Amino acid sequence: MIQTEVLLNMPDDMHLHLRDGNILNGVVGYSARNFGRAIIMPNLVPPISTSDAALDYRRRILNALDHKSTFQPLMTLYLTESTTSHEIEKAAASPFIKAVKLYPAGATTNSESGVRNIKKSYHLFRKMAELDLPLLVHGEVTDPDIDIFDREEVFIDRILEPLRREIPDLRIVMEHVTTKNGVDYVKNSKKNLFATLTTHHLMLNRNAMLVGGLRPHYYCLPILKREKHRAALRSAATSGDPRFFLGTDSAPHLTHTKESACGCAGVFSAVNSMGCLATVFEEENALSKLNKFTAENGANFYGLKVNKNKIRLIRKSKVAIFPDTISIGNETITVFDPGIPIYWHIDYMINE
Ligand code: NCD
Ligand code: ZN
Repeated sequence: MIQTEVLLNMPDDMHLHLRDGNILNGVVGYSARNFGRAIIMPNLVPPISTSDAALDYRRRILNALDHKSTFQPLMTLYLTESTTSHEIEKAAASPFIKAVKLYPAGATTNSESGVRNIKKSYHLFRKMAELDLPLLVHGEVTDPDIDIFDREEVFIDRILEPLRREIPDLRIVMEHVTTKNGVDYVKNSKKNLFATLTTHHLMLNRNAMLVGGLRPHYYCLPILKREKHRAALRSAATSGDPRFFLGTDSAPHLTHTKESACGCAGVFSAVNSMGCLATVFEEENALSKLNKFTAENGANFYGLKVNKNKIRLIRKSKVAIFPDTISIGNETITVFDPGIPIYWHIDYMINE
């Protein structure tokens, strides 16, 4: 008997890019419809590197929401080489700021203000461990001599392992883990190491981006990897292991900036992530673990109650229709194409 219905606590998206201005206004509703809360990435220009800036940004997000929405943006601070201990204390004291994000300088979109020499931030990491403010890492080295497909593995050896040995009490999330090496490293750790997984890395390997023509809408960072890595990610996500949880990494860019000679990295998956994830979990015979991955594990990590509201996913014989693009003024943002039909439809917000 195939299962055709799943009732979930309202999911949380523990890694989300909402941008600002017109793009924020255009995209936020899709996340608010599918998720109760989201950890909001701070890589704006200029970066959200102070608590005051994070609280202002939070206000702009709330203002962009439909007035009936109960969606809660959970804010993060962008770590720079000028971040002070005082800022860390302020962030830890705020109920609205949940973590600090480490971008190695040059690793991804708007990471130029990020950290070049990690050792210079160790005193801040000690303070964060003391205050139990988690560190979220974009886990890729940026050394030009390291192949782009190896950057996560090398980050673990050169940056993460020494940091964890030095400050074992710091709680760390490897954001958007994309390799078997990353999954195994989390699984083998004794404590304080967690990982988010994206929708698109669970659905696609690098062939989807590179075979039969170059697909810029599948270009993201960390870049899609080979099939054995995708298999490891799927097994981690569907295992129920409390250390793995959803962070879609939905990262909207205007279509023309991706369809370009030097295209931007990022996949906009906020529109259809939940239907895609139900498909992945169904394929892995693990629908009973979907609630852990999307609603329980992440909430537990951040010390939050699991959302009381529910959503119902229903598998129908007709394909769920998603827009190919959404409009932002005269421009568009291209929606994630999972490449396979999605039969899971979502009944939003069943209030209890
Ligand atoms: C993200 C973005 O566009 O902000 N891009 C991406 O490919 N994931 C940045 C990031 O999370 O690396
Ligand atoms: Zn991201």
